[in-house]
Amino acid sequence: MSDFKNPVELAKKALAQIHIPERPKSLYDPVRYTMNLGGKRIRPQLVFIGCGMVGGDPEKAVNAAAAVELLHNFTLIHDDIMDQASSRRGQPSVHTRWDEATAILSGDVMFNMAFEQLSHYKREHGFSPDLFPALHEIFGDATRIVCEGQAMDMEFETALTVELSHYIEMISCKTAALLEASLKMGGLIGETEKNAVEKLGVVGRQAGVAFQIQDDLLDAIADPKTFGKRAGGDIYEGKKTYLSILALERADRVQKQKISAILQNSACTETDVSYVIDAYHDLKVINDTKEAIKNHYIACLSALDTFGESEYKRAICDLIESLKERQS
Ligand code: IPE
Ligand code: IPE
Ligand code: MG
Ligand code: MG
Ligand code: MG
Repeated sequence: MSDFKNPVELAKKALAQIHIPERPKSLYDPVRYTMNLGGKRIRPQLVFIGCGMVGGDPEKAVNAAAAVELLHNFTLIHDDIMDQASSRRGQPSVHTRWDEATAILSGDVMFNMAFEQLSHYKREHGFSPDLFPALHEIFGDATRIVCEGQAMDMEFETALTVELSHYIEMISCKTAALLEASLKMGGLIGETEKNAVEKLGVVGRQAGVAFQIQDDLLDAIADPKTFGKRAGGDIYEGKKTYLSILALERADRVQKQKISAILQNSACTETDVSYVIDAYHDLKVINDTKEAIKNHYIACLSALDTFGESEYKRAICDLIESLKERQS
């Protein structure tokens, strides 16, 4: 097939057509800053791939792809306030470069900009009357679910122990929900039937779970220069991650007390963080986390089995291969 449209190129096109007003500067400069900071653009690529995999024309998915990337970037701005994270994509986070009030409001307006992009799919623009309400529902549900996940993430910070199954539920919400919605929205724009949309959702969910566990791992062991976020940030913040949960389960009494104290201490030191990372190695947490990531990516690839061969299916397999190797 020669009419394959490269999802990476389409993602650039989706972002380029977003109109960011000049004024008020304090509202829109942080939006422009964030959208131009880079990022892997995974979610827009998934929208295009979802559309292409069901035989649709990904060109039609440009606005939906812009909507998911706007929503994602909005969540990052607010997440950095919640996590007291001062860097993002190797640059100061919005609330650090400006201030919290600015970051809250710029995030809010991005949410509105995302919905404006979705309005493109209304019947007056020539789409089926069912498309806009269906996209709106998936997008709205995903937004609520991400908020629920973010709330669980914060609640878990002060919980003494968290079960792994609850952690998986939390990351399915805060991270996987948007990857799931991206593929499903692409499928809907490609005019496929409900069953195929749901199957695309399963692919996105598994990819999202793998992706977040990997984010947790990179937070502990990646080179901060390539990762673009503070090394050990999750430990400083006392996050219950795949790694901290396994470590707390496996540690002996003394070690467990020490790890818990470090996670609860809002002023822990670099030495404390190194202690926890060493414990992750000693307790084989790093190895088993890598194994869990691999298994969720395998589940994602097997959910793809039921889709016929296509260049878009190859594109998602390639994307997953590149995600497995990612350092940022
Ligand atoms: C960061 O997402 C937030 C998580 C869900 C872990 P990405 O790693 O996709 O962020 P960018 O857009 O590439 O910077
Ligand atoms: C973020 O999880 C998920 C959302 C932004 C909704 P993290 O807090 O782990 O993401 P990073 O590490 O800051 O990118
Ligand atoms: Mg964060
Ligand atoms: Mg967070
Ligand atoms: Mg993280």
